[in-house]
Amino acid sequence: MKENHSIKPSTNPELSGQIAHSFALLRPHFVKYRLWVAGGILALIGVDLCQLLIPRVIKSSIDGIERGAGGQSALFQWGVVIVVLAFGVAVFRYFWRNLILGFSRFMERDLRDQLFSHLMTLDRPFFQRRSTGELMALATNDLASVQLALGMGLISLVDAVIMTAAVLSFMAYINPELTLIALSPLPFLAALTKILSTRLHKRFSTVQETFSGITEMARSTINAMRLVKIYTREKDQTERFDRLGRTYIKHAMMVATIQGLLFPISGLVANISLLLVVIVGGRMAINGTITIGDFVAFISYLFMLVWPMMAIGWVANLFQRGVTSLARIQEILDERPSFEVGGPGLVPTVSVSLIELRSLDFVYPGQASAVLQGINLDFSSGLFGLLGPTGSGKSTLCHLLARLYPVPAGSVFVNGQDVNQLDLAWYRQSVAYAPQEPFLFSDTIAANISFGRPEATADDIQSVARAVGIDDEIRQFTQGYASRIGEKGVKLSGGQRQRISLARALLTKAPVLIIDDGLSAIDAGTEQQVLAAIMEYARSAIVIMASHRLAQLAGAKEVAVLEGGMITGVGSHHHLLAQNVYYQTIYHKQAGCSAKGKSHGA
Ligand SMILES: Nc1ncnc2c1ncn2[C@@H]1O[C@H](COP(=O)(O)OP(=O)(O)OP(=O)(O)O)[C@@H](O)[C@H]1O
Ligand SMILES: [Mg+2]
Repeated sequence: MKENHSIKPSTNPELSGQIAHSFALLRPHFVKYRLWVAGGILALIGVDLCQLLIPRVIKSSIDGIERGAGGQSALFQWGVVIVVLAFGVAVFRYFWRNLILGFSRFMERDLRDQLFSHLMTLDRPFFQRRSTGELMALATNDLASVQLALGMGLISLVDAVIMTAAVLSFMAYINPELTLIALSPLPFLAALTKILSTRLHKRFSTVQETFSGITEMARSTINAMRLVKIYTREKDQTERFDRLGRTYIKHAMMVATIQGLLFPISGLVANISLLLVVIVGGRMAINGTITIGDFVAFISYLFMLVWPMMAIGWVANLFQRGVTSLARIQEILDERPSFEVGGPGLVPTVSVSLIELRSLDFVYPGQASAVLQGINLDFSSGLFGLLGPTGSGKSTLCHLLARLYPVPAGSVFVNGQDVNQLDLAWYRQSVAYAPQEPFLFSDTIAANISFGRPEATADDIQSVARAVGIDDEIRQFTQGYASRIGEKGVKLSGGQRQRISLARALLTKAPVLIIDDGLSAIDAGTEQQVLAAIMEYARSAIVIMASHRLAQLAGAKEVAVLEGGMITGVGSHHHLLAQNVYYQTIYHKQAGCSAKGKSHGA
């Protein structure tokens, strides 16, 4: 196993490189869904062909009428052909929509799955750097813009290219000179679309940002409703929300203005082309250079060109947004866990019975100064206490013992082996951990307790709940152990949450149990019962418990005093009471307080 502290910075390579890199991410999906994409593009070509043929039919019928050929039945036949072609357009359109939009949805789902399973491999240092909001945005907004680029973007691109090429050929077939004349205003349209849609893109990003601001504010305010009430900030919050709403409307209106300009302008340009065609083409038709049917067909083709011209600018923007989002997703997918597994680590046959810390120094990633310095400690079967003022490094030491952060080589030994050489999954399975801030999933109480051992039976779950003195309380909920926790479920008190978190750790029966200040919210009566359960566990396991309260550490075999990231004393209660100033101070303070019958929650 090798450590990998260096996490790739978010590089900003040239666009082409970025596109190539992002495309590498998409390639396997394109291969997987190749039949969908190919079928969709074929159907799209079908639509375009049918559409392109309609003016040809009109031309033939008009020319027929002019020549006086065929009469009623010929006209009827042309009509039928047009209906058949229109039917073809409808059918093919149905298929491309299903195939290509379906493909883009599948792709979106696959990418989301890929992102999620990748996030599952990452660890604490990563989640400390990235906010939840950012990751949520990736999984929603960014994936949506990739989906849009792959769905509508791909369709419009293929459509625009095919249509432009085909329409131009058909027009040139009728008359090349007239085609050039008709096209002369179109580059302006393309340029104008490009300029306006770049503006549109910028405005649109602002609209999206403002919108996520609104969402975030609504989310956090509703979450913190109690605080809003207690500090009577309702009016203030409402005003802030209103201001955000106004900003949002302002930007959204600008988007509407630009969009509103785009369509009339394109209509205008198309009409200028039409004017040119009517003047020049009309004269050609009068001269007999082209037939009247050609003239009418030519005008139909001209209108068919307007959409692809507009689409090009729009598609460019869709792709631009898609590529930007894809690069953001790729950046997360390029992240590697801090513990890079260089092949399988050692899996010892015996369980953990000894942990030794040797001159352990620790600096949090990205921080300048060490939080732990020169820690030497040995842990074997039994209860060990960690005592120290707030900020002294107790939680940090617990994190390292649980291997939530990488540790320097040669500083932590398990059964005599450097922990870095041991299999990470094996080691983590050997450690049960009750963190300082208990975390509960919005799931049933039973599922929360058995999270670390899903195969546990109802009896196992109840017996561990009884051990931490919460069984009675759980039974009082209407659905007992099947009650859901969290929103729309039961609300638990701080002490109840702590005991469920503790029960979850105890249930694993792991050979190492780490409790980081896990009893701080538990009342004095229940505390004795919980301590007894922990002592029982410590008979056959290494139990390390950080606490602010000496009473909780009374049964400990040894207590280590941590101050400012350094060990200032290790030993039994009597030893520390005789030798360690901090221990003495705490002892006298807490003994005094206990005498007055107060509790000392952290
Ligand atoms: N994730 C982190 N990144 C950077 N610094 C951190 C991080 N977590 C803690 N620290 C710093 O490390 C020091 C020790 O923190 P730690 O949480 O280990 O203290 P503690 O002894 O558990 O305190 P408490 O008794 O309040 O729980 C503090 O100065 C804190 O600011
Ligand atoms: Mg702590």
